[in-house]
Amino acid sequence: MLMQDRKAVVFGVVNERSIAYGIAKSLSEQGAKLALGYAAEPIRKRIEPIAASLGADFIFQCNVSSDEEIAAAAGVVQDRWGSVDCLVHSIAYANREDLTGRFIDTSREGFRIALDVSAYSLVALCRAFEPLLSPGASVMTLSYYGAGRVVANYNAMGVAKSALEASVRYLAVDLGKRGVRINAISAGPVKTMAASAIHGFRTILETIENRSPLGRNITLDDIGRCALYLASDLSSGTTGEVIFVDSGYNIMGV
Ligand SMILES: NC(=O)c1ccc[n+]([C@@H]2O[C@H](COP(=O)([O-])OP(=O)(O)OC[C@H]3O[C@@H](n4cnc5c(N)ncnc54)[C@H](O)[C@@H]3O)[C@@H](O)[C@H]2O)c1
Repeated sequence: MLMQDRKAVVFGVVNERSIAYGIAKSLSEQGAKLALGYAAEPIRKRIEPIAASLGADFIFQCNVSSDEEIAAAAGVVQDRWGSVDCLVHSIAYANREDLTGRFIDTSREGFRIALDVSAYSLVALCRAFEPLLSPGASVMTLSYYGAGRVVANYNAMGVAKSALEASVRYLAVDLGKRGVRINAISAGPVKTMAASAIHGFRTILETIENRSPLGRNITLDDIGRCALYLASDLSSGTTGEVIFVDSGYNIMGV
């Protein structure tokens, strides 16, 4: 099995529709040990049965906008496992009012929150977990087409994803010195809790069906298989990349 006894820390499962859930499932099916990070205490009850169904070793709380909680999370993982082979960052947040209307109206605070939770958190997690990452370990994050192109209503999140993708490239240089890889999966639209905050999401789904080369929307399994490639030795020579899992939509012109 591709991930036999490898230790994977996954941030971002909130329910079974979460992209992080699809990734955790596919890693676990290939033998990975899992630890799941959840954002806040009220989510714990929801995560416990999901963690049990995935056979996760343990779960821990970590609000990624808090340096203290990130340090505590790295401490918990250090105590339980001592090292980590895979880190999955599948987290984003923006205030609802910053995901509709004109981008020009984004407030300073709304911009800060979107960038902090959705992009800076990757940098902070990499720094905190760096001493635990084994040589050959793999870090991955989730991006979207709106990082490089204007997508209606994506607004502050588009700018955050742009910063996230640039962070992946800079982190690739820092982590590469230890033999650690980091990449982003740019996923097509998937109906999740986070996606429900974006106005006109149904139109985005229909556009992929009508215009992508594969003529269908992607599934959690599609993303899970790409995650498996990135987490395992199959991608041993790949770092700093953004890999699209979007039925090919991003290649289309007129
Ligand atoms: N759903 C899509 O269409 C789509 C497409 C491309 C990329 N993505 C990206 O995939 C990632 C996962 O989103 P999803 O669609 O699976 O939705 P989701 O709602 O299932 O997951 C988002 C996760 O972010 C977590 N989170 C938010 N703020 C946090 C904080 N301060 N600390 C810790 N965790 C926090 C939530 O608890 C949740 O688990 C996000 O980065 C999202 O932008 C989603």
